[in-house]
Formats: sequence, structure tokens, C-alpha cells
Amino acid sequence: MRNRTVLTGITTTGTPHLGNYVGAIKPAIQASHNADVQSYYFLADYHSLVKNQDPGQMRESTLEIAATWLALGLDTDTAVFYRQSDIPEIPELTWILTCSTAKGLMNRAHAYKAAVQENLDAGVDPDFGINMGLFCYPVLMSADILMFNANDVPVGRDQVQHLEMARDIAQRFNHHYGELFVLPEAVVDDHVSVLPGQDGRKMSKSYNNTIPLWLPEKRLRKAIMKIVTNSLEPGEPKDPDNSALFKLFSAFATSEQREEMKQAYRDGIAWGAAKQQVFELINSELSVPRERYEALIEEPGKIEQELQRGAEKARDFATPFLARIRDAVGIRAIG
Ligand code: TRP
Repeated sequence: MRNRTVLTGITTTGTPHLGNYVGAIKPAIQASHNADVQSYYFLADYHSLVKNQDPGQMRESTLEIAATWLALGLDTDTAVFYRQSDIPEIPELTWILTCSTAKGLMNRAHAYKAAVQENLDAGVDPDFGINMGLFCYPVLMSADILMFNANDVPVGRDQVQHLEMARDIAQRFNHHYGELFVLPEAVVDDHVSVLPGQDGRKMSKSYNNTIPLWLPEKRLRKAIMKIVTNSLEPGEPKDPDNSALFKLFSAFATSEQREEMKQAYRDGIAWGAAKQQVFELINSELSVPRERYEALIEEPGKIEQELQRGAEKARDFATPFLARIRDAVGIRAIG
């Protein structure tokens, strides 16, 4: 038996970029090799539906993200890799939890509050453009987590409140119906560097400064060449601690390579030469998985098969557990 269950979800919106890779995908795949841990990694397509109502984009993004995890070597024999919407137990549990979740708790969710505030600032109706999916998002996320009795949930800082809500919801349920749920914990890794984007701010879709993970070689080089630097000339010493380019390099480098690059900065390496080294380092890590990715994308049937296999394994746990939960709330045969 594995000691702990680690679970995390990836919203199926957009194309994976270098920041997603360094901050989430790579550490998750590494963690899944730990023999003490049972990992559940899933594509959160119901969460994506809150914002993304273009069916074509939904399919595209689901395909790209699934292919990414497989190309990067996620071992689907040990990790359970599935698509949220293939597990009907999750929306069923969502409703059950919704009925024991205080509306006041949801009123306090950062994402919902920010959307209301934006409306107030714009002088429009506070509910403008807000759907119930956004409001109930933390309950669906709680169901994702509680459905598998997850202990540890690796997430970004912005998701910590959602984990606190999942604990609240689980506690309230356990108190009323008996101890069914494990109280999950957020795992926020502050050592994982937040990758800067091309403009030096945090790499994020909302800043439009991302470098897509699977750019072909030439375009990857071009994207790296566009990273902002300053006007110091070749030969002038440069400061690695204030350089987005150096941060990007560091996220892929060994400590030895990092020291060498620091020295090169002090010795006045030209920006163009430094960028070329950053490109070569990143490209050497990605070139083999990139070939696998390109092959996988051409075979969506194969990816679908993997997801179906994952769904079966996930339901091996979810189906009997949901039966117990239904029984606990009194939804059961009457005769
Ligand atoms: N809300 C998470 C995010 O935006 C994605 C997510 C959905 C998730 N369900 C989850 C993360 C369950 C961890 C556990 O990043």
C-alpha cells in the first residue's frame, strides 16, 4: 500500500508554456516516481468550462495538455491520469457537497470577489458576466479532491484558499454525516522558481508574455532572443540577480552551469551570446520529448485510450466510495 495520495488538476485552457512546465508539470512527474505515493493527475475540463465556452478550443487544449504529460514521461502505470468529465461520480459528489456548503463561504472566494469588484469598478451590475460555475468553482474543486481522499494537493499560491475551503467543506460534512473524508493539505513549493516571461514579469497567459513549451526549434530560439535585457554592451559586467534571462537559465541549469553563467555575466558576456546559451540549454532538455509530443498529437486515439484506462482506475476508487457517501446522506434503496 502506498502511504499518501497526491492529487492535482490541470485546467484545460490554452497551450502549455515553459512556466507551466517548470512550475507544475516537471515536479509532478518527478513526484509520481516516488514509490510511497499514489498520484492522481487529471485534466480539469469541467473547471475550464467556467471560462472557456468554445467547444473546439476545449478539445484542442485537452489534447495538447494530455499529450504534454505523456510526452514528458508521466508513467501511467503508476500514476492515475484521467479526465475529470470521465468520472461521473465527481459532479454527483459536487451536488452532495453543494448542499452542505454555506453560501457565505463561497461569497468569500477570491476569484469570485475579484470578478464582482471588477464589475463595481466598471460601474455595471455586480453580477455582470458571472456564471454559477464561477461561484461554485470551489465546491467542484473540493469534490475533485475529496473523491479520492487525497492527502497532499500541489498547487500554486493562488489556489491555497480553495484548499482551505475543501477542508472546511470536508469537516462540515464529516461532522454531520460521519468521518468519510480525509482533510487535504495544500502543498505550495516556494523553491520552484516562478519563471519570468519575455517582458520580465511572471510568465502568465494574462500578461501575454509566455513562451509555449512545444515551439519548433527555430521559433523557440526566436522567442528567447526576444527576452528583454538592458543596453549594456558586450564586455560590460552584467548582474545575474536582476536578469530575467538568468532566471530562465537557472530553472533549467545544474548548479554548476548556473555558476558558470554567473561568471560569464561578470565577465561581460554579450546578451546575444547569453541568449544563445539559454536557448541551447532549454532546447537540449526539450528536443526528445518534443518529438514524442509531435508524434502523439497525430494520434489522438492513443491518448484517448490512455485517458480511458486512467478513468477506469479512478472509478475503481470513486464508485464504491460514492456509494458509501450516498448511503451516509440517506440516498439509498428503501426496500
Ligand atoms: N483550480 C486549479 C487551478 O486553476 C485546477 C484544479 C481543479 C485543481 N481541480 C483541482 C487543482 C483539484 C488541485 C486539485 O490551478
